[in-house]
Amino acid sequence: MPIGVFDSGLGGLTVLRALTEAAPWRPFVYLGDNANAPYGVRPPEEIYRLTCAGVERLFEEGCRAVVIACNTASAAALRRLQQEWLPEKAPDRRVLGVLVPMVEALTGRDWADPRPPAPHPVGPLDVVLFATPATVASGAFEREAANRASDLRAASEPCPGLVDALESGDWAQADAIARICVEKALRRMPAPDAAVLACTHYPLAEAAFRAALPPGTRIFAQPAITAASLDSWLARHPGYLDSDRWRAPKLLTTGDPAHVSEMANRFFGLPLAFGEA
Ligand code: DGL
Repeated sequence: MPIGVFDSGLGGLTVLRALTEAAPWRPFVYLGDNANAPYGVRPPEEIYRLTCAGVERLFEEGCRAVVIACNTASAAALRRLQQEWLPEKAPDRRVLGVLVPMVEALTGRDWADPRPPAPHPVGPLDVVLFATPATVASGAFEREAANRASDLRAASEPCPGLVDALESGDWAQADAIARICVEKALRRMPAPDAAVLACTHYPLAEAAFRAALPPGTRIFAQPAITAASLDSWLARHPGYLDSDRWRAPKLLTTGDPAHVSEMANRFFGLPLAFGEA
């Protein structure tokens, strides 16, 4: 029973890397839906259908718990998937996302904390969020953050084209888009305390975001936050992983395995070999 990790494409590998660094002994199966990337320009219904199909494929690999390492799917599809699809399809399995750990980290509040929103004594007040058009359109991040931290102000900036540039390995284009998006966001919020790269692809362009953001703006690292959150979830839910014996992560793609492996190697400088999903 490995842990499943799902993304529309290569971006979830930034999360997989953090997950394997945090627990190198843990078995993982990764599925990138590269054939259908990017998700961020698709309507919610399509994102929902593709996400269900991806999770089902990971269930076939024996995963009892799946991490949706994709903000777009977490924001646009995960709640519905948990409420409608999962109870019918596999009530004994669990699907987690990346939005909940990020909101918890920013607001300092547990997701299940029932108290009304309150000021956060130490947390960032002004947060700029870079995400896909679909994640921004969902409003999920702002809604969930406002439900917990009454003094957090969020400005969301969609970054259309950035995932395409990263999936195709066009670094110059990716850097240019990241820089333009930061400039646009800073016009609305000139001195943010924190920035969230709320698309798992965007850490691949982190240097460009960092260079364009004010030096005092802290970038919240979603991969590490997700890894810490999975660790504590597994400690509270033993039984979703029955083997802590090391084996290399299994990497699957709906796209062309040779091309996806080559792109993954370029991004991560590691010999990553994808197989056909
Ligand atoms: N990496 C994904 C995310 O975190 C999806 C990007 C996309 O396919 O548009 O939002």
